[in-house]
Amino acid sequence: MVCLGNICRSPLAEGILQHQIDHQTLDWEVDSAGTSAFHAGDLPDERSISTGLKYGIDIRHQRSRPFRINDFDRFDHILVMDASNYQNVIRLARNQADKDKVEMIMNYLTPGYNQQVPDPYYGDHGFENVYQMLLEATNALIEKLK
Ligand code: 4NP
Repeated sequence: MVCLGNICRSPLAEGILQHQIDHQTLDWEVDSAGTSAFHAGDLPDERSISTGLKYGIDIRHQRSRPFRINDFDRFDHILVMDASNYQNVIRLARNQADKDKVEMIMNYLTPGYNQQVPDPYYGDHGFENVYQMLLEATNALIEKLK
């Protein structure tokens, strides 16, 4: 799960998918990262933490880290939140196989629409919307990939 800062959207995406993995006892690994290192080492944004906790999802153990080239080797799917994240990750791809792993996460729910998960960092009202979008997308992802 990849966004810009790895403190707002992708930590929630990781937490939601981990929660689903635990409940369905799937043998999957999920992690998250940012295309920037602006917040490396930081906890998730407190608004993401509180939105998760409202739904029983605790993301307080997470720490922001930048996306790394070897994430292309570690993971089968690299899910980005918006078009800017997509371009930043694609730019790091070494070959077509790397590029093929990168997908806008909302395309699991609405294939081909390239719908973006809006960056909620600069407002106070976007976090609930982000949570609901990610919940729907991860549910669709699980149905498709399991
Ligand atoms: P995120 O949100 O990419 O969902 O983690 C942001 C967090 C921090 C910044 C931008 C977006 N920032 O500019 O510091």
